[in-house]
Amino acid sequence: MSSQLVQIGDLPGKGLPRPSTDGKTFYLETFGCQMNAHDSEKVAGLLVGRGYRRVSSYEEADLVFYNTCSIREKAAQKVFSRLGILKEDPGLKEKFIGVLGCVAQQEGEKIFQRAPHVNLVCGSASYHRLPEMLSEMEAGKKRVTGLSLDTDECFETEITRRDQPFRAYLTIIEGCDKSCAYCVVPMTRGPERSRPSDKVLEDCHRLVNEGYTEIQLLGQNVNSYRDPSPAGWSFAELLARVGEVDGLRRARFTTSHPRDFHPEIVEAIDTHPVLCDHVHLPVQSGSDRVLSRMRRDYTREEYLEKINCIRNAGRAISISTDLIVGFPGETREDFEQTLTLVDEVGYDSAFSFKYSPRPKTSALDLVDSVGEEEKTLRLGILQDRQRAIQLQRNATLIGRTFEVLAERRQKRDGQLTGHTSSHRVVNFSGGQELLGQYVDVRITSAGANSLVGEMVQNGSR
Ligand code: SAH
Ligand code: SF4
Ligand code: F3S
Repeated sequence: MSSQLVQIGDLPGKGLPRPSTDGKTFYLETFGCQMNAHDSEKVAGLLVGRGYRRVSSYEEADLVFYNTCSIREKAAQKVFSRLGILKEDPGLKEKFIGVLGCVAQQEGEKIFQRAPHVNLVCGSASYHRLPEMLSEMEAGKKRVTGLSLDTDECFETEITRRDQPFRAYLTIIEGCDKSCAYCVVPMTRGPERSRPSDKVLEDCHRLVNEGYTEIQLLGQNVNSYRDPSPAGWSFAELLARVGEVDGLRRARFTTSHPRDFHPEIVEAIDTHPVLCDHVHLPVQSGSDRVLSRMRRDYTREEYLEKINCIRNAGRAISISTDLIVGFPGETREDFEQTLTLVDEVGYDSAFSFKYSPRPKTSALDLVDSVGEEEKTLRLGILQDRQRAIQLQRNATLIGRTFEVLAERRQKRDGQLTGHTSSHRVVNFSGGQELLGQYVDVRITSAGANSLVGEMVQNGSR
């Protein structure tokens, strides 16, 4: 680490001496989705590049950053409870506190009023300006903000350390141009910006050279991807090229919006074994009335056609989804429709949530008619139903053999754990040397959320 004054390269204020960051530390805690997890990897890379060292507790840190999520009220509250605890910290005066991500964008400068000890508020659409903002902070500015959503930039920075050793995240598109009535994301992450396909492929090659064998392509709506470079590839075309990257064993992608989910995507998976047999296709509701009020832009029937296309693929592709219960105006009959849809599709896994009213979303104009108790009841019924489906589906896998990437050792029982291409969790016994390897595992028992198996061979095909 340099102890010299460093010149700032291509930033405003260029040529000004920058105070030394030598010996300075940062703590960064992340809430929310994979996009946030990956943003945090980039923010950490930026800080390390400026000479900061990462520490694992806020007490010992000079910079304390929270990368926040605002998708439901409970998620958004987390950062305020953290900020409340920080307020009592005896070392607070010497610290610089930053709120990043979706709550930062959502609440903006109001955060300074609610928590005056916060110094920096920055939404993800302004991360490309973070170096400049950090320079202001280092020069002693006490309040720094990055809240503009008017951008066509993506956050490109060197990543010094990824949180997972074998699977790397790779952003292909940022932001969201949809306007689902319940959702804050278009307001917190700004408009869609796709990264040029040559950059994406360059990143894939670099990751493979660094030793990653699995890449997860990220975006709020990966299938709205529009290549801004002259090649002008669609998402399916990009996917096919990623599937051809030499040395790559697995590529996944998340999240797909049903409206933009086309048969070409299934064709790409079918023809490229590297593309994993898993599609996450959030449906939200099984009722046309609710889907239309949610502004999801598809009907139950159209959604089922897409499912049918996935089910007719050359190899079995697992399907997962997101569901919301208790959306304003959702009747018992509407909810029943969600249950019948879940039965009809037979999802391999599902995330389900109680509707949570969010600031500035259009659903606020609708009456939040389903009471909390009823929402809880519906969520319980839905989760029980889905659990039974998963148990039943997973039981059919007993006796079959799957290739599993051994990702880590379980603290609880020392077993290795990893994912199949279809994104099922498999636990099995094996040595440390298998970590990072693709191992053939025969399934011996099945729960709703994971499988147990035994290794049949150490397959490094
Ligand atoms: N871009 C993805 C999902 C992003 S948010 C998509 O379009 O599917 C992840 C999930 O959170 C959503 O799929 C939805 O099920 C849930 N969610 C979003 N806003 C919500 C809200 N206000 N209340 C409850 N659940 C919500
Ligand atoms: Fe939210 Fe809808 Fe965009 Fe997904 S597609 S991020 S649910 S607005
Ligand atoms: Fe949350 Fe923002 Fe992701 S609201 S789910 S962190 S896009």
